[in-house]
Amino acid sequence: MYRLETKIDVNSEEFKSNKEAYLKLLNQYKRVLKTVKNGGSEKAVKKHKERGKLLARERIDLLIDPNTPFLELSPMAAYGMYENEFPSAGIVTGIGIIHGKEAVIVANDATVKGGTYMKETIKKHVRAQEIALENHLPCVYMVDSGGVFLPDQANVFPDKYHFGRFFFNQARLSALGIPQLSIVMGSCTAGGAYMPAMSDETIIVKKQGTIFIGGPPLVKAATGVVVTAEELGGADVHTAISGVSDHFAENDVHAIQICRNIFETLKASDKQILDIAPIEEPFYDPEELYGIAPIDLKKPVDSKEIIMRIVDGSKFHEFKARYAPTIVTGFARIMGYPIGIVANNGVLFSESSLKAAHFIELCCARKTPILFLQNITGFIVGKEYERGGIARNGAKMVHAVANANVPKFTLVFGSSNGAGNYAMAGRGYEPRLLNMWPNAKISVMGGEQAAGVLIQVKQDQLAERGQTMPEDEVEKLRQSILEKYEHEGSAYYSTSRLWDDGVIDPVDTRKVLAMGIAMSLNQKFPEQQFGVFRM
Ligand code: COA
Repeated sequence: MYRLETKIDVNSEEFKSNKEAYLKLLNQYKRVLKTVKNGGSEKAVKKHKERGKLLARERIDLLIDPNTPFLELSPMAAYGMYENEFPSAGIVTGIGIIHGKEAVIVANDATVKGGTYMKETIKKHVRAQEIALENHLPCVYMVDSGGVFLPDQANVFPDKYHFGRFFFNQARLSALGIPQLSIVMGSCTAGGAYMPAMSDETIIVKKQGTIFIGGPPLVKAATGVVVTAEELGGADVHTAISGVSDHFAENDVHAIQICRNIFETLKASDKQILDIAPIEEPFYDPEELYGIAPIDLKKPVDSKEIIMRIVDGSKFHEFKARYAPTIVTGFARIMGYPIGIVANNGVLFSESSLKAAHFIELCCARKTPILFLQNITGFIVGKEYERGGIARNGAKMVHAVANANVPKFTLVFGSSNGAGNYAMAGRGYEPRLLNMWPNAKISVMGGEQAAGVLIQVKQDQLAERGQTMPEDEVEKLRQSILEKYEHEGSAYYSTSRLWDDGVIDPVDTRKVLAMGIAMSLNQKFPEQQFGVFRM
C-alpha cells in the first residue's frame, strides 16, 4: 500500500488557529467528563465508601486485566438534563478484557440516586446488552441498584425497550450461548432480582448484597411481617438456602476475584479470522487532527487528511480515486486489523453513491470490516439530479450499508445531516460502535437550511391569504431556529441522549476502533445476502 501525502502545512496560521480553538473545545469537554466521572454527590460517595464498598469505576478497574484499556460507553449520558442529578445516567457500561476475553461490563453507580434506573439508564443498559448480542460478548452485571427510579416510571417501566427488556435480553443472550455473570454488590430489588437469577453464575457479597422481589417495606405492607433486608435476601440466605446465588464473597474485592476465576472457565469464542499485520503508528502525527478537524463545519476538509492520521503507516489503498471524488473509498489497517473506509468528501451525488455501494460489496466479499467517516450535509438536490435518479442511486448505497454483513463502525468527524446520515451508517444502521468527535454536529439538516425551509413555508401560507411576513418576524423566526439547531445539534446533546456510544478525543480514534474491531471478531461474520437493488 502507498502512503498518503499530506497537503496541509502544519505551520500555517490557519492550522495553528484551528488547533488552538480545537484544544479549547476538547479541554472543555474533558473537564465536564472528569466531573461526571466523580459520580454522585460527595455525601453519597462518602456514605458508599464508609460501607466498605468500592465505586463503580474502581470495581471495573479491578475486574479487567491489569494494564488493559476499558472502552467506556456513553459516559456523558443524561448530561445537561435533570439538573445534572444523574451523572453518566447512574450506570457505567463498557468493554473490557477479563482473563484475555473481551466482555461487556454493566455496573450500577449506587452513589447516583441509589443506582436506580431512569430513562437514559435503561437506554444505556439495553445498549450494552445489544453490543453483547451483536458481538457475542460475555456480560458481567455489577448490581447495586434500587431498581426503577419511581418518579420516572412512565419512561422506564412499560414500553418495549424499558426495564423488562433487560431480562428478555438475558434470556436471548443465554439461548445464544453467551455467558452472563452477576455480582450482587448492593441492592437488587423487585424486577432487578431477575438479573442475578437469570445469570449463568451469580456472586453475592456478605452483608452488602441483597436480592428480593419485594423489599422489607413491601413485605411489611403486604403481610404485616417485619423482616430485615439480610434475613429476607442476604448473601447467607441466597447461597445456603434459596440457591438464587452460587458464590459467597467476603467483600467487593473477593467477589471480583471470583468473577475473574469464572472467566478462566469460560470457553473461548469461535472467532472470525482476519489477516492481521504488525501494528504501525500513523506516519502523520494523530495530534495534527486538532489542527484539521472542522470546527467551522462550512469549511470543507479533505477526508484523506483525516484518514492518514488514523490508519497504520498513513497507508491507504484507494479505490476509484479519480471517480466521484465526493466520497473517498479504500482499504487500510488500524492497529494491524484490515478495514475498508468510506469517507465523505462533499455532498453525495449519484456517482458517489454507486461508488460507495460497489466498495461496500467489495468489503463484504472480502470479509473486511467497514469504517464510515461522516462529514455529510446530505444528498445533492435539484431538478437535474432528480432526473438523473439520485433517489434510485442513493437507495443502492442505503441498501448496501443496511445489508452489509461485516461489522460497521461509524465516526462522525464533522456534520451528520439528512439522508446522508443513513447512507453513512447512522445509528439506525447498526454500526457496532458510533462515536463522535467533540466538534461534530448531528441534525436532520443544518440550522440555516431548516430556518430557510420553515420561513418559506410560513411565507407561502401567508401569501395564500394575501399577507406577508414582516422582516423583523422573519429574523426572529430565523434566530430561534438557528439557536435551537445549534443547541440540539451538538455532540453534547447527542451523547446525552445516547444517539452515539460516546464522544472521543480524535487522538483516541485508533484505539477505540481497534477495540471495536477486536470485539467484533468474537463470532464468525455471517454469509452476505443483499436484497433487490433498484437499477
Ligand atoms: N426511586 C427513586 N429514587 C430512589 C429510589 C427509587 N426506587 N430508591 C432510592 N432513591 C433515591 C433516594 O430518594 C435518594 O435520593 P437523594 O439522593 O435525592 O436523597 C437516593 O436515591 C439514595 O437513597 P438512600 O435511601 O438515601 O440510599 P441508600 O444507599 O441508603 O439506599 C436503596 C439505597 C436503593 C437500597 C434504598 O433507597 C431503597 O431501598 N430504595 C427503594 C427500592 C425499591 O423498593 N425499589 C423498587 C423498584 S421497582
